[in-house]
This record gives sequence, structure tokens and C-alpha cells, in this order.
Amino acid sequence: MPVKIEVKQVSKIFGSKGSKVLETLGNQFDKQEVMQRTGHVVGVHDATFSVNTGEIFVIIGLSGSGKSTLIRCLNLLHRPTAGSIEIDGEDICEYSRDQLRDLRRKKIAMVFQNFALLPHKNVIDNVSFGLRVRGESRPDSRQKALKMIEMVGLSGYENEPIQALSGGMKQRVGLARALANDPEILLMDEAFSALDPIVRRDMQYELLNLQQKLQKTIVFITHDIQEAFKIGDRVAIMKDSKIVQVGTPEEILTSPANEYVERFITGVDKTQVLSVKSIMHLPGCLVQLRDGPKLALQEMRMNGVSSAFVMDQALRFKGIVNLQDTLQAIKDKQPLESILVHEVIEVEPSTTVSDLVPLAQKSPYPIAVTENGRLLGIVTKSAILGSLA
Ligand SMILES: Nc1ncnc2c1ncn2[C@@H]1O[C@H](COP(=O)(O)OP(=O)(O)O)[C@@H](O)[C@H]1O
Ligand SMILES: [Mg+2]
Repeated sequence: MPVKIEVKQVSKIFGSKGSKVLETLGNQFDKQEVMQRTGHVVGVHDATFSVNTGEIFVIIGLSGSGKSTLIRCLNLLHRPTAGSIEIDGEDICEYSRDQLRDLRRKKIAMVFQNFALLPHKNVIDNVSFGLRVRGESRPDSRQKALKMIEMVGLSGYENEPIQALSGGMKQRVGLARALANDPEILLMDEAFSALDPIVRRDMQYELLNLQQKLQKTIVFITHDIQEAFKIGDRVAIMKDSKIVQVGTPEEILTSPANEYVERFITGVDKTQVLSVKSIMHLPGCLVQLRDGPKLALQEMRMNGVSSAFVMDQALRFKGIVNLQDTLQAIKDKQPLESILVHEVIEVEPSTTVSDLVPLAQKSPYPIAVTENGRLLGIVTKSAILGSLA
């Protein structure tokens, strides 16, 4: 996927002499000390990352770690003290006023934690507000707004006053309003953090659903690691104004960059994130259909196992043969084909471990991981158990 947003060495120091203060900062600094010495606050220090077109990029960190400051740099609500931000290859820090206004009206939209809706207007007026500001006619903007309201599941509530809505519904309005302008980029700053857990889960699901259809580029901030791993294609972890790791949830779980990240991810249900790809291995015992049962037996003995995985000549997975049947087939002079066990469970490499557990419980054999019929690896019960530890 092409890069949509490229952030290079962005720092934001709050205070009148930000650049001067930035020059005095080494790679290691103490925010508190900087504050006492200079009266300046380090919001973000030296952030570098890119966001790909169509991905959900999550920024996570504790309160005060610089998440809001960073996301607000992406539409220049905060102007970085140093560094560059390219969107579609253009450095927006160099934009004129008009270009910047266009960027905010057309290309980027934002959803806020506190909804930031117009409290005295009804749903449809809130959703169509940005379109009206953009100069679209009342009928046009109403029509687009109605479509968005339907998309976020609020049909029938068009004329309800905002105050009459629950938190979850308000945020649906916030989402509809942001989407109404059909932006390419959606910035969501703790958009779900104020919601009750169940409503929140609902909204996470809704967002993933919408994203399937809309394929926006989304930067999503949260302080909840479960939420980050659930919805993020990639996740950036912030600590004390700095980004300490960027990676897919699986990369972060399997190789945390440092002790801080390790502590941050303890308690995460790994099985929801880890895919079978990360726990599969090559079958020790692999034979081809045209190999006879004698060869299969030899392979099993050499590997000290009691079953063999069987492929055809095109390396497509055909099934398993077990030791007992193989011995019998040698006696009866039967080909491997006649003793193939076909009831081996096959899964795709992206299947999560949590989805695998119930399948593994039912299956007497290891599970085959296949892609377009080809065997990529197998997952044994002990590998699953190991990943749960
Ligand atoms: N407008 C501002 N002026 C001065 N300091 C600010 C401003 N906005 C944020 N900060 C400071 O920058 C740091 C990062 O804040 P913020 O980006 O809001 O963190 P987060 O969103 O991760 O909770 C904090 O120390 C905060 O107090
Ligand atoms: Mg914040």
C-alpha cells in the first residue's frame, strides 16, 4: 500500500522559544527538568512514522505521553516545532492558508472524545454542518447527511436533538459528521474512550465494519491496549513524548522493543492477536501421494512420529496417514491414497489462535495451515498450549 502520511522527525515544544529549547534536548531528557529549566513543555519529541493508504494506524500511550499533540500536528491544529509532515507527498507545513483550509475541509476530518457536536442542533444539522460550510446547497447536504446517518445506524433519529442521545449515539453522529465530507483521512482522538464498555465494543465493531466499505486512512488514538490491538493494522506506542515502537499487534506481542513495551502489553489476551502463522511449524513428516506406504513408514520412524502429512505433486495438501493404517497398507499392498484421512482441519494463516482453540479440541490430528490448497505448516496442540502460556 502506498504511503499516505509521512511524519519525519516531528517535535512539538510548547512555549515561545520552542526551537531554542529543542536544540538543547539530547535524546534523553526529563520533561520535568526541561519544564523547570525553561518553562517549556515537551509535547512530542522526534516522531517518525508513516501511515499507509487504507490502514488503521493506532497511537497508544498513557495520559500525557503526547498522543493528542501528535495527532493534532497531522492537520496542523498544532504546528510542529521541527520536522515535516507529508500527505500524499506534499509537506503540509509549507501550505498556504488556502491550501490548509482546503486540506481540513476536504481531505482530513477529525472525531473527538467529547464529540464536539453542536448541542442545540439536531442530528441531521450536525452531520450536514461541514457540507454547508463548504458551500454545498441545503438539499444536497441533507441528502448526503441522510446517507451517512444511515451508514452509522442512526436512521430514524435525523430530527432528534443531540441532547436527547446517549453517548454511543452521539459518537455515531460524530462519525457521520466526519465522514459526510468524504475525507480521505480520519483522525480519531480517543473517540471511544468516554463510552461504556459494551457501547465501546459496539463502536469498535462498527468502525471495522465501516472501514471494510470505506477504506479510509485512519489514525486512531487510544490508551487501551486491547482496543489498539483489536482495531489497529499497526500500532505506535508512545512514552514520555516519544514513540518507542511501531509495528503490527503481532510484531509488538512477539518482539516488544523494550521492557516498557513488555509491561504495557502484559495482560493482553495474546490469542486474540496471534495468528496461526506465528505458532505453526513445518510438519516433521511429509510425504507425497505417489510415495508408497513403506516410504511413509520410514519417514515416520525417522521422525519419531505416528502420522505423516501427505501432498500431491503440485504440493497441494491431501490429508494425513497414521501409523496403524500405514502398517496395514503395507501388509495389504495398498497405496497411500486408500488410507488417507481427509478429516484434517484446515485453516488460513491469518486465523487467530483464539479461533483455533475450539477446532483443536475437536481434532485428533494437528491442524493444517493452508493457502490456496498449499500446505504452509501445521499447528499441534502443544504449540497452541505454548502460545497460551
Ligand atoms: N496547548 C498546550 N500547552 C502546553 N502544554 C501542552 C499543551 N497541550 C498539551 N500539553 C502538554 O503536552 C504533553 C502531552 O499532552 P497530550 O498530547 O495532550 O497527551 P495525551 O493526549 O497523550 O494525554 C502534556 O505534558 C501536556 O500537559
Ligand atoms: Mg489526549
